[in-house]
Amino acid sequence: MSDELDNKAVEVLKRNERGGYTVPTARLYPYQWNWDSAFIALGYGSIDRARAWAELESLLEGQWDDGMVPSILFRHDDPDYFPGPAIWQTHTMKQPSPRMPTTGISQPPVFASVMHELVESGNSSDLERAERLLAPVLRWHEWFQRDRSMNGVVSTVHPWETGRDNCPDWEIGLDAVEIDDALEPYQRKDTEHADARQRPRKDQYDKFITLVKFAREREWNQRRFTDESPFLMADPGIHFILLRANRDLLRLAVMVGDTAAADRLEELIDLGEKATEHLWNNELHAFTARDMRTGRFSNGISNASFLCFYADAGSEDQRRHTLEHFARIAQLVKSHVPSWDPEADGFDSQRYWCGPVWPQMNYLISRGLCEQGYHNYAQTVRDDLCQLIEQSGFRECFDPLSGNGCLGTDFSWTAAIWLAWASPNKQELAA
Ligand code: GLC
Repeated sequence: MSDELDNKAVEVLKRNERGGYTVPTARLYPYQWNWDSAFIALGYGSIDRARAWAELESLLEGQWDDGMVPSILFRHDDPDYFPGPAIWQTHTMKQPSPRMPTTGISQPPVFASVMHELVESGNSSDLERAERLLAPVLRWHEWFQRDRSMNGVVSTVHPWETGRDNCPDWEIGLDAVEIDDALEPYQRKDTEHADARQRPRKDQYDKFITLVKFAREREWNQRRFTDESPFLMADPGIHFILLRANRDLLRLAVMVGDTAAADRLEELIDLGEKATEHLWNNELHAFTARDMRTGRFSNGISNASFLCFYADAGSEDQRRHTLEHFARIAQLVKSHVPSWDPEADGFDSQRYWCGPVWPQMNYLISRGLCEQGYHNYAQTVRDDLCQLIEQSGFRECFDPLSGNGCLGTDFSWTAAIWLAWASPNKQELAA
């Protein structure tokens, strides 16, 4: 079974290849996505190293002059997708001169950690390719700290930037967003390609588009967007992924002897470690999302809360509490790790980031748990994902109660995570 699935996974990646870059899945997501490409590169790491690096390099073709690497690169206009380049309009603005039409927000920066992973499992040619990317990736990390932070805490201006689009985490932040009266009527495409009951709601979508319009009216000046956005929240996902990415980039900088980059990365890590405390929700005893304007915490625990291990962050006490939640939630689901706590308001086992298990999140969570010595927990997270894929195929995400697949089929990051990590063949190799 696993050999057959390995072959199918390779086929999925090849089928989603569009000449130098890979789409997450045909039709529903017809462009290049940021953290998808990073995970796709990780998957290619097991089968074709040159292709892995090409995927990473292609993503940086969309980097803005200010260092930001956008969430989507619109290399062409696909009328089948909304909201496309005509809504974002970033390429028509004077600053900060994107080289191609893109969105004006970023996504969780797993990129540097994937580079590090490829170098660790590779040879000197991998290190050479990584060395070439070190400077642009550091500029991207700098951008988060400089243009997307409030009082030193890296924050986000749009749920789409977190990659966890409609997670109930964002409800308290979205409450402050008034739907723009002058919003042009629009036609969603996602609900034509996928079951509407599994996608974000209409009122959420109106607010998502309102935020895009808000930034467009500020000509995509990112510092202004952060300062003035009606939505401004800190996200444990971006926070922990960035902290880990800074640590991995530091390791690479040391390997290639770039002391200036290493010094700067140590500073960024220090800032990240200090900011961690800001995300500790003392009522829930977990790291959760937080509204940066009001200081209010989100009312639930998401799978991003469990990334503290991956970032090697938090005190012993904070980790103990987090593990207690992990064990409690494990009792409530058939498959760990649901994207939202089944006991919190807003849980919906099939609705996108309100409950389903996401392959790439399981990978990150399990990596962290394993590195911190929680091997049994790490193995559960891996086994559960393996079973989900065996049961339902390379779906976008999975219902944690039934194990059924949700939304997109033939999904690139699911195939990539399978090849890089979840396949029993891979697990035997690692053992
Ligand atoms: C959805 C997901 C996001 C992902 C994108 C493409 O928007 O929420 O995380 O990057 O699809 O797969």
